[in-house]
Amino acid sequence: MCSSDLSTDAAHAFPAAWRPSVEAPWQRCGQGTAAVSCFSFYANKTITTGEGGMAVMDDPDLAARMKLMSLHGMSRDAWDRYSGEGSWDYRIVAPGYKYNMTDVAAALGIVQLARAEEMRRRRDEIAQRYLRGLAGVNAIELPPDPKDRLHSWHLFPVRLRLERLRIDRNAFVEEMRKEGIGFSVHWRPLHLHPYYTETFGWQPESCPIATALWQRLVSLPIFASQTDAEASRVIEVLTDLCRRNAV
Ligand SMILES: Cc1ncc(COP(=O)(O)O)c(C=O)c1O
Repeated sequence: MCSSDLSTDAAHAFPAAWRPSVEAPWQRCGQGTAAVSCFSFYANKTITTGEGGMAVMDDPDLAARMKLMSLHGMSRDAWDRYSGEGSWDYRIVAPGYKYNMTDVAAALGIVQLARAEEMRRRRDEIAQRYLRGLAGVNAIELPPDPKDRLHSWHLFPVRLRLERLRIDRNAFVEEMRKEGIGFSVHWRPLHLHPYYTETFGWQPESCPIATALWQRLVSLPIFASQTDAEASRVIEVLTDLCRRNAV
């Protein structure tokens, strides 16, 4: 049971796990970590249904309410009405929404769910290869990998130490792309998006720490079908780029 009444945005965290100490058994993210945990199954996530996601909780009444509200507040969904055991009759019992997962998406999701841990392990192997292979590159700061966490490795973000490089982050990403390596950048802070700048007058200096961090961030490619050779090439090209552009 979870004592918290908070809900968690765990969009990136499937199927991450944690344990209170290295001797304790693993607990999945969402298992007792919040009253409701929401995971995204959007196309670029660790498992996907194309669009959609999953909310987990251990309160059956809340689960029933979410199910009801996700499909028009209807007392019976199509399976309950048209399958052998079902009844044609249904009632609207609440002013619901229309954000149910489609059966076609769920069919994808069931297969992906069964492979989730296998795919997480593969991403972890790639991450461990990066952590070992890049440990000596002093122009980059690697993500933490504590022993009491199983990371989902949806992304592998690193922070550039710009004071040790002659090029900025954008040039760095361009150089990697020229080598055919799909580097990306995530998490542009809200205050640097045009809507917020125009609506609230926010400027880069409004949130100086987020601005500075953003200018250092890059994400290395990481995905379950990535080969060892592909990961090794990322390490080689990145190491070489840092060496050639060292201050
Ligand atoms: C932290 C976070 N929350 C929520 C979402 C939205 O997820 P979805 O695309 O499934 O609506 C994302 C998408 O990447 C995310 O990164």
